[in-house]
Amino acid sequence: MRRKAFWPQREKEYSNRSNLQRSRGVASPSSAQSLSGKRLLLIVGGGVAAYKALDLVRRLRERGARVRVVMTEAAKRFVTPLSFVGLSGERVHDDLFSPTDEQEMGHIQLSRDADLVVVAPATAHLVARIAHGLADDLATTLLLATDKRALLAPAMNLRMWLHPATQRNVATLRADGVSFVGPEEGEMACGEFGPGRMSEPLDIVAAIEAALASETRLPLPDGLGEARLDGALTGRRVVVTSGPTQEPIDPVRYISNRSSGKQGHAIAAAAARAGAQVTLVSGPVALADPAGVDVRHVETAREMLAAVEQALPADIFVGAAAVADWRVETAPDKIKKSATGRSPELVLRENPDILATIAQRAQGRPRLVVGFAAETRDVIGHARAKLDRKRCDLIVANDVSVSSGVFGGDRNEVHLVSGSTIESWPRLDKSEVATRLVARLAERLQRAELGETP
Ligand code: C5P
Repeated sequence: MRRKAFWPQREKEYSNRSNLQRSRGVASPSSAQSLSGKRLLLIVGGGVAAYKALDLVRRLRERGARVRVVMTEAAKRFVTPLSFVGLSGERVHDDLFSPTDEQEMGHIQLSRDADLVVVAPATAHLVARIAHGLADDLATTLLLATDKRALLAPAMNLRMWLHPATQRNVATLRADGVSFVGPEEGEMACGEFGPGRMSEPLDIVAAIEAALASETRLPLPDGLGEARLDGALTGRRVVVTSGPTQEPIDPVRYISNRSSGKQGHAIAAAAARAGAQVTLVSGPVALADPAGVDVRHVETAREMLAAVEQALPADIFVGAAAVADWRVETAPDKIKKSATGRSPELVLRENPDILATIAQRAQGRPRLVVGFAAETRDVIGHARAKLDRKRCDLIVANDVSVSSGVFGGDRNEVHLVSGSTIESWPRLDKSEVATRLVARLAERLQRAELGETP
């Protein structure tokens, strides 16, 4: 059964700045007042990471946002309300039954008078209470009463995060339309190492900016309606490969193919616009790095595989690169023309299949593994075979015969082939294929997490 997202969808324009720039604190021209006029309700839960929420308030105010802070009782054990008063320039709310508060501004009003509700840190207990619709303090009552979207930054011990109960609660909230940023992997306050650390304030700022983004609606031709990106991948990690690989013959020569990287780069850009944290592993191409994407440049298939593995874990892997199937046994020095006129013989070795390797990982397999099938004939038949052989979830099949003009061109005509369905799209700009594909992947990811057949 497909559940309809309860939480309202976004309505404002997305400022397409680099997540990475933001997370590294590099100022871009628009960073100064990127949240100007935005009203945020920040709910601070009771965890050690509450201290980072102080810095978050500072960063948000620097960007022009108005921040109203609500603290749980437990949060006040970690940081004082006075610190938030000083940083937000507003009084802090903590009492559901405060007559003064109710007189000044009822809690329903407080929950509605914001563009976005942010919960940072979202502790395991707070996540559980929100997922179950409890309203036993001001924070959870506001979350139940609000008509605005919510973004949660979880922070907890790794065992608590990995516990099936927490994971069920997170899946429930995602299905209700709640977005997440983090948690990150790293050393925790308790000394253990793993996922559970709250994202850094600048990464939460980036997620807030993405969540406040417009419904990135792109009109599609031929009555296809609209692909909605909508920050649909906020808090998700996506790894994309793109372009060709180059396999050296000797220090100055290589074998490669005609892939331009246009489709893969467009997918990485669309995933970033949808709010995902994107790593693009690109072979040599003549394209600019897409905005908001962490780009790793590689040459060979083996380097590409290593870079992909390093970029994991991820929720989605899209292998759009045209990986060379073979590499050459490379000569250490430039091969010279022989005096006898004999041509050198190239010895080819099979390259690793990156898509199959990622799809067949025993541990840490991305939830969705998507491949491309560039064919010159029987496009769908070959795509089906590839889906089975490589054990990926979806193949985007396209015709790359010379007459199709797809290789190097700006348009593409694709068929989405999964275990049970084929969806054929008309010829579209590669950027439109990317937007539409990313919107589909966000839907499939959500369905997969609900245990439905994606
Ligand atoms: O087997 P074939 O090359 O036609 O499969 C295409 C798909 O497999 C693409 O998604 C491509 O990125 C991926 N692939 C790969 N590693 C290879 C060969 C292909 O990841 N060595």
